[in-house]
Amino acid sequence: MSTNHVVIACDHGGLSLKQKIIQTFSQIEWQDLGTSNEESVDYPDFANHLAEVLKSHPDRIGILVCGSGQGMAMRANKFAHLRAALCWNEESARLSREHNDANVLCLGGRLLDHDLALKMTKVFFETPFEGGRHARRVEKLNGKAD
Ligand code: RB5
Repeated sequence: MSTNHVVIACDHGGLSLKQKIIQTFSQIEWQDLGTSNEESVDYPDFANHLAEVLKSHPDRIGILVCGSGQGMAMRANKFAHLRAALCWNEESARLSREHNDANVLCLGGRLLDHDLALKMTKVFFETPFEGGRHARRVEKLNGKAD
């Protein structure tokens, strides 16, 4: 997956962490889908937009930030081409890449220490998918569920 271009979106609860991520990883060409101010918005709208962009750019990583990260992850995982991981520490971020081939990192801007979230983002960028037995399991993620 490419870390040259990364797609990012947030709601009002994730705005300050999103801004820190963009500032910290300034070498990346960010596609920032908003929101861009503290006005209250609905997080599923932003997850939908990110899903649409990743549909046309399947090699890109996405980052979704809301207050808890939870609503963004729930919405993102409705899309078959997204594997969105709600992560809470560096280990969960690493495993989401190694084992689950996550292509979207979901972060809780109100719950996570922001310095930790930046470290988690770096780990997410730098960790490759392990493949092997995990590839078979990831294949099954989109199997019939109901
Ligand atoms: C917004 O108040 C909050 O519900 C949202 O940012 C997120 O935490 C939802 O999962």
